Amino acid sequence: MRQSHLFYLAFLTTTVVCVPIKTRLEARIENGLASTPPMGWNSYNHYSCHPNETIIKSNAKALVDLGLDKLGYRYVTTDCGWTVADRLTNGSLTWDETLFPNGMPALGDYIHGLGLLFGVYEDAGIETCGTGIPQAGSLYHEQLDAETFAAWGADALKYDNCYSDAATGYPNVAYQPSTSPSARYQNMTNALSNLNREILFQICEWGVDFPALWAPNLGNSWRIGNDISQNWQSVFRIINQAATQTSFAGPGQWPDLDMLEVGNDIFTTPEEQTHFSLWAILKSPLVIGGALKDTYTSISQASLGVLNQPDVIGYNQDPLGKSANLVRRWSDDEYDVWSGPLSENRTVVALVNWAHTARTLQLDLSDVGIQYAATVKNIWAGSEAASVKTSYSASVEPHGTILLEIKGTSPAGYYATDIFATSTNVETIFSDIYAVTDSGEFLLVIDFTQPPSEGSQIDIQVSPSGYSTTIDVPSGSSQASTNISLSAGANNNITISTTGVSSIKITNPPGAYYPSTSFARTGSAILTECGQGYCQPVGSKISYLEPSSSATITIPAKTAGSKYILLDVINNDITYSSTLTNSRNITISVNGGSPVRLEAPLTGRHSELFGPGDGWWDPSTFGVLVPGWEAGNNSVNIGNQGGEGDLQTYAADFVGLRVLD
Ligand SMILES: *[C@@H]1O[C@H](CO)[C@@H](O)[C@H](O)[C@H]1NC(C)=O
Ligand SMILES: *[C@@H]1O[C@H](CO)[C@@H](O)[C@H](O)[C@H]1NC(C)=O
Ligand SMILES: *[C@@H]1O[C@H](CO)[C@@H](O)[C@H](O)[C@H]1NC(C)=O
Ligand SMILES: *[C@@H]1O[C@H](CO)[C@@H](O)[C@H](O)[C@H]1NC(C)=O
Ligand SMILES: *[C@@H]1O[C@H](CO)[C@@H](O)[C@H](O)[C@H]1NC(C)=O
Ligand SMILES: *[C@@H]1O[C@H](CO)[C@@H](O)[C@H](O)[C@H]1NC(C)=O
Ligand SMILES: *[C@@H]1O[C@H](CO)[C@@H](O)[C@H](O)[C@H]1NC(C)=O
Ligand SMILES: *[C@@H]1O[C@H](CO)[C@@H](O)[C@H](O)[C@H]1NC(C)=O
Repeated sequence: MRQSHLFYLAFLTTTVVCVPIKTRLEARIENGLASTPPMGWNSYNHYSCHPNETIIKSNAKALVDLGLDKLGYRYVTTDCGWTVADRLTNGSLTWDETLFPNGMPALGDYIHGLGLLFGVYEDAGIETCGTGIPQAGSLYHEQLDAETFAAWGADALKYDNCYSDAATGYPNVAYQPSTSPSARYQNMTNALSNLNREILFQICEWGVDFPALWAPNLGNSWRIGNDISQNWQSVFRIINQAATQTSFAGPGQWPDLDMLEVGNDIFTTPEEQTHFSLWAILKSPLVIGGALKDTYTSISQASLGVLNQPDVIGYNQDPLGKSANLVRRWSDDEYDVWSGPLSENRTVVALVNWAHTARTLQLDLSDVGIQYAATVKNIWAGSEAASVKTSYSASVEPHGTILLEIKGTSPAGYYATDIFATSTNVETIFSDIYAVTDSGEFLLVIDFTQPPSEGSQIDIQVSPSGYSTTIDVPSGSSQASTNISLSAGANNNITISTTGVSSIKITNPPGAYYPSTSFARTGSAILTECGQGYCQPVGSKISYLEPSSSATITIPAKTAGSKYILLDVINNDITYSSTLTNSRNITISVNGGSPVRLEAPLTGRHSELFGPGDGWWDPSTFGVLVPGWEAGNNSVNIGNQGGEGDLQTYAADFVGLRVLD
C-alpha cells in the first residue's frame, strides 16, 4: 500500500503520467484509513477462538457505554471461531449458526448502529487458527472471500497465518513455513484492492520473515512477532522484537505488537501501564483484548483508567506518526529508556522498570537528545516539573513505567548561560554539565555575547575532574574552543573566567574503534567473515562466545575511569516460545573487573529464515558504561559471563566496539 501511496504522491507532484495498477489501494490510503494506528476491540485475548454473537454485542455496546469509542476505539473484530469447516456449496464462507444465530451481516449492522466499525477475521492458509476444529481458511479463495466480507459490510480484516503448508498437524508449529508468507498476503491485498469498499487490512504473519521489509506495502499494520501470552515476560519478548522494526512505522503502516491484555487480570496496574505505554509510543494498533462487559465480567476501574488515559492515547494517535525507539538499555540496572518525537516539538520518553522492586530511576536527558526542558509531564504520576536541567528522577512501581512528555527543549550538549550558569563580576559558572563518559577529549565551544575588543586569555576550570586550562581568544572572535576533561555523570561544573558568555556547547569525544578482527579468541569463539555489505562496519564477527570463552584485546586509554562503549552486536535468535525473550546477553569487563552486561534485543533488518546468513550478519549498536579503566593499557574481555545454567549459553555475536575515551 505504501508503494501505491508514494506513487500517488509522485503522480501529484510530477508531470509524469502513468496509470497506477492498484487504483483501489491508493483510494483506500487517500480515504485516510489508518493515518494513525487503528484502535478497537477484539475477542481473542479473552475468549480465545470461542466468540459468539452475545459476547461481541455486549462488548461492542460497552465500548460505547464506557466512552471508549469517543477516544478512538472503534473497530470491533470477531476473531477465530466464527466460521465452520466447510464453505457453502456455492463456495462462499459462512458463519456458525449456533454461535451467530442472526449471522454476520446482522452483527455488522448492529456494530454500525452503535457508530462503530465491523472487523472480520480470516487466515492466509488452508484453515484458520483454532482449537482443533477445522475452519475454512482463505488461501486460494481470496477474491471471493474479500467480496463476501465487503457484502457483509466489513471495515477491517485481520488475516492470520495458520495452516499455510497443509490442512492438518498445525504445520507451522515451529513457525517456519516452507515459503515466506508475503506472497499469500499479497494475494489478499490484491483481492481487497479490487473491491468497491475500503477495508483496513491487518496482516497477522507472526513476525515471520522480517515483515517490516514487505508487509508495510501490503497492509495497514503487520504483526512484529508472535502472540502476546498471558505472562509478564511476553512484554519483554515482544518489545525485543519490535526494537528493530520501529523505524518502519508511519501513516498507513503500523507495527502491530498484538492485542492488549489490559483488563484480563494478568498484570498489576503498573504492568498494565507499562504494556499500554509501550504499545502506544511504539505506534502499535491499540486493540483492547479484555472483556469490557459480558454476563460474567466487567472491566475494572483500574484497567479502564489505563485504557482511557487521554495523553497516552494522544501519543499513539499523534499526527507525526513516528515510533519511539530503544535509546538505552541498562541491563544490570534492569531498566530501559525508550523515546521518540511527537508533533509540536515534544518528546515522549518511557523509563521501563523491569526490576521486581519499586525504586527511583533517573533519566539522563541527553540520552534522548535533550539538555533542558521547560516542562516534564509525568503521566502516570500525574505530576509536572518545570525548568528541568540535564536529568530527571522519579519513583516507579515494580514493573512500572515513568512515562514522560517533554516540552520546550534545547538540544543535548547546548547550555545557555541564562539557564545553566550563574555569573559573578569576573566569571561565569556552569553547573549540571553532563558527560556520557570519563574523557579528556570533550570539545568545549564558548560563544561570547560580545567579542573581546582586544585579544585576551581566559581560564577554564572543571570540577570534579580538577582539570584547568587557559585559552587565547583573539580580538574580535565570537567563539573560543578547547578540549576539556569531564567525569561521567550529570554533576560537572565549568568555571570560565569572563562574564560575556552567551552559551557553551559540548561535543562527545569521537573515541576509537576496535574491530572484532583485532581481538584474540579463546575456547569456542570463532571469527567469521560475513557476506558483502554485512557485519558493518567490520565485515566480520566473532560468534559462539559462551561463559567459558572470550574475545580479548589490549586497549590504551588516555584517562582512567568509566568509559562509554558503543557495542556493535548481532542477535537473530527469534523465538516463538512464550517463555523465551528474543534477547541475547553479551558482557564486557575491563582489567578483570565485574562484567557489564547488555541484554541485546533482536538486531538488524533481515530474516535468517529465507535468506541464510542475512539475519545473523546484521548488527545494531548499543551503548554501555563500563567502569575500571586505567590510564595506559587495559585488558578488555568480551563474552557471556554469568550465562551458565539455564540461561542462553551463547552471547550475542560481536562485530566491534568504540571506546569513548
Ligand atoms: C452463496 O450463497 C450465499 C447464501 O445464499 C450467498 O449469500 C452468497 O452470495 C452466494 N455466493 C456466491 C458466490 O454466489
Ligand atoms: C456465548 O459465550 C458466553 C461466554 O462464554 C456464554 O455464556 C454463552 O452461553 C454463549 N452463547 C452462545 C449462544 O453460545
Ligand atoms: C496467488 O494468486 C495467484 C493467482 O491466483 C496464484 O497463482 C498463486 O499461487 C497465489 N500465490 C500464493 C502464494 O498463494
Ligand atoms: C519547533 O522547533 C523548530 C526549531 O526550533 C521551530 O522552528 C518551530 O517553530 C517549532 N514548532 C512548534 C510547533 O513549536
Ligand atoms: C582534542 O580532542 C580531539 C578529539 O575530540 C583530538 O583529536 C585532539 O587531539 C584533542 N586535542 C588536544 C589538544 O588534546
Ligand atoms: C557545582 O556547582 C554547584 C552550585 O552551582 C555546587 O552546589 C556543586 O557542589 C558544584 N559541584 C562540584 C563538583 O563542584
Ligand atoms: C601496551 O600494550 C602494547 C601492546 O598491546 C605494548 O606495545 C605497550 O608497550 C604497552 N604499554 C604499556 C605502557 O604497557
Ligand atoms: C541474561 O542475563 C540475565 C541475568 O543473568 C538473565 O536473567 C537473562 O535470562 C539472560 N538472558 C538470556 C537470553 O540468557
